[in-house]
Amino acid sequence: MLTKIRNILKKKNKIKIVSLTAYSKNTAKILDKYCDITLVGDSLANALYGMKNTHQLSLNTIILHSISVKAAVKKSLMVVDMPKGTYKNPRQAKKNAKLIFDKTKCDAVKIESNNKNFKIIREIIKAKIPVMGHIGYTPQFKNKFQVEGKNKNEIKKLLKEAISIEKAGAFSIVLECITPSTAKLITKSLKIPTIGIGSSSHCDGQILVTDDILGMSGFYPKFVKKYADVNSIIEKAVKKYTKEVKTRKFPKNKNFLYGK
Ligand code: KIV
Repeated sequence: MLTKIRNILKKKNKIKIVSLTAYSKNTAKILDKYCDITLVGDSLANALYGMKNTHQLSLNTIILHSISVKAAVKKSLMVVDMPKGTYKNPRQAKKNAKLIFDKTKCDAVKIESNNKNFKIIREIIKAKIPVMGHIGYTPQFKNKFQVEGKNKNEIKKLLKEAISIEKAGAFSIVLECITPSTAKLITKSLKIPTIGIGSSSHCDGQILVTDDILGMSGFYPKFVKKYADVNSIIEKAVKKYTKEVKTRKFPKNKNFLYGK
């Protein structure tokens, strides 16, 4: 685990860090070949469970998906999101981070910043669990989507928040939907790597939701690039299967397990 973290830290200012989300073993198996960080994100709530936001996702649900992901992760650093309400105070945060860590055997947890929970980060790290921070648009704490870092006040606030997270001991930090110049300033000001989502190429690495880049979620904001249209591939296969079952083309004798 610590070697994996050290390798991520070493990439700062040298090689871009590649990261995507996974919610199951099958996706994680492919991601693990290419990604430096595999995140079991709480975007699971929207992308897979069809919830309107991430607020109702339970600790148990993310643990179960993380166990599935862990079955395929060998090389990449596996990070698990702590769901909303599971890190309200240092004691609860430590207890739940330990639960995630012990049950899933992940390498680190991610917590969203509310610009106050630095002590919580410190407490989790004291329990020898590495923490990834997350600032900017933090869906657990902000209901309204908006780009941050547009004016002097916001820039100052975000930079201070990022520095506090680094000081608390986080090994990296997600910058979500932050203006390019602010993302650049934060990335230059920190020793730990920044991982951007909708925050320009100035970050040390990039993360996106895998279901979005595969064209499966139906969610395509400007910062998402659709690299494939997996939905249409699935639809084509299901359509063919349906036709073959109805026209008795499937199963054939060769698909029978025994006899005729
Ligand atoms: O939940 C998630 O997938 C995330 C990433 C988008 C950073 O937090």
